[in-house]
Amino acid sequence: MAKIIYNEPSRTLLEYRLLPGLTTENSLIDNISLRTPLIYSDKKDHKYHINVPIVAAAMQSVSGADMAIELAKLGGIAFVYCSQPIEQQAEMIARIKTHKAGFVEPETVHPQITIQDLCALSQQKGYTTFPVIDESGRLLGIITKNDYDVSRHGELCVKDRMLTLDQIVVGTDINNLSEANSILMESHQSVLPIVDKGNKLLYLVFRKDIRNHLNNPYEVIDERKRLMAAAAVNTYDYPERIPALVEAGVDILAIDSSDGYSYFQQQTLLWVKEYYPEIPIIGGNIITPAGFEFLVDNGAGAVKVGMGGGSICITQEQKGTGRGLATAIIKVSEARDSYFKKTGKYVPLIADGGIVHAKDIVIALALGADYVMMGRYFARMEESPTQKVTINNRVMKPYWGEGAARARRWKAMRYSQVKFVEGVEGFVEYAGKLRDNLDDTISKIKASMSSCGVSTIRELHKQAELEVISALSIREGKVHDIYMPDKDQHYYSLNWGE
Ligand code: IMP
Repeated sequence: MAKIIYNEPSRTLLEYRLLPGLTTENSLIDNISLRTPLIYSDKKDHKYHINVPIVAAAMQSVSGADMAIELAKLGGIAFVYCSQPIEQQAEMIARIKTHKAGFVEPETVHPQITIQDLCALSQQKGYTTFPVIDESGRLLGIITKNDYDVSRHGELCVKDRMLTLDQIVVGTDINNLSEANSILMESHQSVLPIVDKGNKLLYLVFRKDIRNHLNNPYEVIDERKRLMAAAAVNTYDYPERIPALVEAGVDILAIDSSDGYSYFQQQTLLWVKEYYPEIPIIGGNIITPAGFEFLVDNGAGAVKVGMGGGSICITQEQKGTGRGLATAIIKVSEARDSYFKKTGKYVPLIADGGIVHAKDIVIALALGADYVMMGRYFARMEESPTQKVTINNRVMKPYWGEGAARARRWKAMRYSQVKFVEGVEGFVEYAGKLRDNLDDTISKIKASMSSCGVSTIRELHKQAELEVISALSIREGKVHDIYMPDKDQHYYSLNWGE
C-alpha cells in the first residue's frame, strides 16, 4: 500500500475563477503596480525585482539573447537556455550585459557582395539596414532597402549602391544615447552609425529605438544600468558552466530540471553557496511542500512550481508524476508562507508550465505565485530564436520541449538518466512582436486586479477570493448560442442535446 493516497483530485488553473472585490480609486488600472520580487536576497537589493510578473522559460526555442534583451527592456526576464555549449551560453549572457539600450551591434556586409546576395541576407535576417565595412572593420558606407531595387540592380555590388561616408552623418566615440539622439534629430537619417576614432564601426543607433527606449519605463537593470541577465544551469556541468556565466556577467541563475526534489539539485545549490555566494539561484521544479523545504534549506532563493502541465510536456504520460498547477501552487504557497513566518525570508514562487492566457497568469498569482514562467507564449514571438515557417497558409514558429528529441540531440543533459523523451516538438502560431503581445497581456492582468480591488501582487495574495468552477460554467463562459459566420465558429447551444 502507498504511504499516502490523496483522494481529492489536484486542480488546474482553468478550474478557478476570481470573485470581484471592491474597486476603489487605489485599484484603478493606472494605479496598479506589477512589480514583484525575482528572488530572495539578504542584500535587500533593488535589482532583484522585475516589473512585470512574467519570465521566459529556459528553452532552446524560447530564450536566446534577443528575447532576453527585449523582455528585460519590457520589465521581465528570460532565462537563457543551458542545453548548448558553455561558451555559446556565456556569449549570449555577455551580449545581454553589453547591450546598450539603443546601441545596436549590427550585421555588416562587405562592399563586393552583390545586391542579390544582400537581398537574400536581408530576407534571412529580417533587417533592411546594413553598414558596409572593409576587412579591418572600418566603416565604408551604409546600404538600406531604399538604395536598390533588386530587379534593376541585382547584378551590381553593394559598393555601387551604398551611401558613402561623404553622404551620411556619422557619430564618433559616442556612448550616450541623448547625444546620439540630438545628432540624429539634426540629420535627415533614420539611423546613425557610430565609429571609434580609427573609423572602426561600433554601433548603429536607430531613431525608432530611441523612441522605444524612452517608452521603456519598466526596464530591469542592474546597479550599473545594464540590463539584467539570467541563465539556466544543469546539475551536470555546473562547475565549468557557472564560472563562465559569472565571467560573462550573469545576475541570476536557475536550475533547469523537471524534478528539482533531488540530491543532484542539492549538490548544485551547495556548490553555488560555497563558490558564488553572491549569485542568487532558483531551484525547481517541485510540486510539494517537502520539495520546497528541501530546496530552500539548501540555498534556493526562489522556487519554480509545476510538473507535467507544460504545453509540450509528456512527463505525466510517460512517468505518471505530476500535479495540477493550481493545487501545486496552493500547497507550496502554504509552505512558503509558514517558512516566511518562521524565518522572515520571503521566497518567491514561480508558476511554471501550461499557462496560456492572461487570466491563467492572474489566477496563478492570486493563488500565491509571485510570477509565472512561460514557454509557448514566448515561442510565438518575433524575438524567439527560431525562424518563421508557413504551414497550410498559416505563419508558425517551431516550438519543442527541452526533453524532446530535438533538444536532447545537443547533449542528453536534462534527462540524461532516462532513455525516453519527456517532451514533444511542434509549431505555434506566430504572434508578432513581444512588445505588443505583452502590452495586451499586462492590460488584461491589470484589469483583472482592478476588478479584485487590489493594486499590487502582495495585495492580491492577501485579498483574492477564488472559487472552483463547474465544467458547465466553463462552457457558459465561452461564446455560445450565437452564429458567427466569419469566425468559423460552431453554433453551440448551452442546453446540451439541442
Ligand atoms: P509552456 O509555457 O506550457 O509551454 O511550458 C513551459 C515549461 O514546460 C517550461 O518552463 C518547463 O518547465 C517545461 N518543459 C520544458 N521542456 C519540457 C519537456 O520537454 N518536457 C516537460 N516539460 C518541459
